[in-house]
Amino acid sequence: MQSRSETRDRADHDETFEQAITALRTRRSGHNFAPDAALDDATLESLIEDATLAPSSYNLQPWEFVVVQDEERLDTVVELAFGQEHIRDAGTAVLVAGHTTPKTADRVFEEWVDAGRMDEESAAQTKEQSVGMYADDRMGRDYAIRNASLAAENLLLSAHARGLSATPMIGFDAEGIAEFLELPEDTVPVVLIAVGPSGGEEPDRLPRRGVDEVLHRESF
Ligand SMILES: Cc1cc2nc3c(=O)[nH]c(=O)nc-3n(C[C@H](O)[C@H](O)[C@H](O)COP(=O)(O)O)c2cc1C
Repeated sequence: MQSRSETRDRADHDETFEQAITALRTRRSGHNFAPDAALDDATLESLIEDATLAPSSYNLQPWEFVVVQDEERLDTVVELAFGQEHIRDAGTAVLVAGHTTPKTADRVFEEWVDAGRMDEESAAQTKEQSVGMYADDRMGRDYAIRNASLAAENLLLSAHARGLSATPMIGFDAEGIAEFLELPEDTVPVVLIAVGPSGGEEPDRLPRRGVDEVLHRESF
């Protein structure tokens, strides 16, 4: 028989679970922002913290978040994003960028050892494997994009859960934005996110390809 506290834990879990599923099922790419409302600093930092809780390969966390809120600088971001005005209305643009070199590896593998999750020898071997993920330019870019994309999705879901609107974008001049935001050589733009207080309803979601169409069991 379940104890009363187990029953309560289960109920809390069910409720949290349901809210999480509802959040991911109702998330939209918002284009309707409240132009006069701004994102406060504490909320911005919470969004970034939630993004950093995304999974990453070996826990390397090879991502950075460059935030633009200054009005004149936002005008330039809009230009670099081929005139996507909703970025200005949102009031906050977050460029999620990814590392193409393993610059967090030394520190992260020390943390695996310090936490007692690896001994020195296996940490050294695993670090070599992780560094191998960056063997050439293509692999480095893939690694950056895979990891930073997951962080971007966390940010989108967090924004939605906090009642904000957010849109992921790749419609921007990647070289131009990297230069404007002074990204280091080994850091590539992955997704630009416009985020801010919602201005109200969004159009209905477009149809999604069905599970029958996209689910392939055992092989394609
Ligand atoms: C990789 C990627 C790039 C996107 N680029 C843009 C963009 O440049 N501008 C824009 O307004 N929306 C952009 N979107 C948002 C999509 O249009 C949107 O996700 C899609 O229409 C589905 O709508 P939903 O997110 O509301 O479900 C992008 C989404 C993704 C995942």
